[in-house]
Amino acid sequence: MKPEKVKRHFQKWAGDYDSLHREKIIPGFHDFYRTVTRMVPFEKNARINILELGTGTGTLTEMVLSSYPRAQLTGIDLTDEMLLQAEEKLKRFKNRFILMRGDFSAITLNSNFDAVISSLSIHHLTPDSKKKLYKKIYKYLKKGGVFINADMVKSESQSIHALYMKLWKGFMRAGKVDEGYMKRRFEGVKKVDIYDTAEDQLVWLKKAGFEDVDVFWKYWNFAIFGGFKK
Ligand SMILES: C[S@@+](CC[C@H](N)C(=O)[O-])C[C@H]1O[C@@H](n2cnc3c(N)ncnc32)[C@H](O)[C@@H]1O
Repeated sequence: MKPEKVKRHFQKWAGDYDSLHREKIIPGFHDFYRTVTRMVPFEKNARINILELGTGTGTLTEMVLSSYPRAQLTGIDLTDEMLLQAEEKLKRFKNRFILMRGDFSAITLNSNFDAVISSLSIHHLTPDSKKKLYKKIYKYLKKGGVFINADMVKSESQSIHALYMKLWKGFMRAGKVDEGYMKRRFEGVKKVDIYDTAEDQLVWLKKAGFEDVDVFWKYWNFAIFGGFKK
């Protein structure tokens, strides 16, 4: 997917993003984000260095910086309008984070990280770009480091995928999510989302060098998966 197209999509959504009651849009919202922080294999007080791909408005960033009070975080995102909200939300963490604007699939960083995390961002890349990114992430990690991706996936079975999409719509309707929003959301999905199965992505992670790869959590078409650098 062209980064410009993804950026335009999020420029349009940025203003509404945090006011959308995301717990009514993402099934298992709190577990979804909390599981990412729980899978970071370090003591609470460890001085760890974290890279976040697709920081957006800083939802996961805030949880991670709260859970690991001595962690430093570098966040990357394409969209200024999303990053401006993250800056505001993360103010209280002062010198513990740096936010960079850029395309995480195009830039190369020199630093080494203990953990690379991402939520709802990598699914905008094509399968080839995902494979390349996973190789890059492996290089960014120190030995003992972890990559955790909380993202949207498809199922190998088309009928199960269709069922999940139906259940997802039902979940939003039960939460009284605005029908106009849902229509726009599903049109947007078609334009900028590229779903791959978790199973394929575990294979790509192994090929990139990761060990102990697994799906750590799953709820319909939302999954958290990743692996370790040993
Ligand atoms: C659905 S939002 C998720 C934001 C946040 N991680 C969360 O869970 O709320 C996706 C974010 O990823 C960013 N993004 C998508 N593709 C990107 C890329 N190739 N490089 C950097 N940021 C990207 C978008 O700008 C957007 O802010």
